Amino acid sequence: MFKRLSETLAAYQARDPAARSKLEIFLLYPGVHAILFHRVSHWLYLHRLFFLARLNSQIARHITGIEIHPGARIGRRFVIDHGMGIVIGETTEIGDDVLLYHGVTLGGTGKDQGKRHPTIGNGVMIACGAKVLGPFKVGDGARIASNAVVLSEIPAEATAVGVPARVVRIAGEKMNYAADVDQIHITDPVQKELQAISSRLEWLEKLMDEQAKSENL
Ligand SMILES: CC(C)(COP(=O)(O)OP(=O)(O)OC[C@H]1O[C@@H](n2cnc3c(N)ncnc32)[C@H](O)[C@@H]1OP(=O)(O)O)[C@@H](O)C(=O)NCCC(=O)NCCS
Repeated sequence: MFKRLSETLAAYQARDPAARSKLEIFLLYPGVHAILFHRVSHWLYLHRLFFLARLNSQIARHITGIEIHPGARIGRRFVIDHGMGIVIGETTEIGDDVLLYHGVTLGGTGKDQGKRHPTIGNGVMIACGAKVLGPFKVGDGARIASNAVVLSEIPAEATAVGVPARVVRIAGEKMNYAADVDQIHITDPVQKELQAISSRLEWLEKLMDEQAKSENL
């Protein structure tokens, strides 16, 4: 348990340039408090002590402004920067080395039963105000831009932006297909059709010539 806490504090130091010492992070960072509370809530949830689990998570919410449902499964070195206004739903699964900023919702759309919330891969970054809604996967190393609303699966290493979110980069490479389109050498469909008619006419003329020749013989 102490090893996990220590690596979480180290992850905060690595990701937050403003973070000074591990002691300061442990005492003052709401994300650390939220995850410590969540470990207890999740243990209670797994032992079917649902009321106590929920009570503990609500106490954590009042203290930190971060609401993590006791059922959510969260990996190692999870970092929440700033923290206020985060909601993580019951069937959410979060991998290792994930970074969330304030205002993020990992929620459901209200249309699904059972697994209703997203699965977040390893090393994913979800920027402030982003909403990820539904039971799909956000691939390893993906980056969700601030205020994006993600409603479908995001591939690994992708950057998704906008409402609804669209993938604009994969592993740093642009996904702007319009820029690759040759706008000068475009085939004209009318010309193509005329060419087809003209070659058919040629063929028919040739056929008629051949027939005329054979009749004359
Ligand atoms: C998306 C983000 C992570 C950058 O990822 P990236 O993979 O380096 O992507 P880029 O910066 O190259 O941006 C890719 C494209 O998305 C656009 N974009 C970036 N962030 C965007 C946003 N939030 N909304 C809409 N479009 C956005 C860029 O303008 C760029 O457009 P282009 O293809 O026309 O040039 C970053 O912009 C972001 O949202 N950071 C927020 C972090 C945060 O929450 N900080 C709070 C600290 S308190």
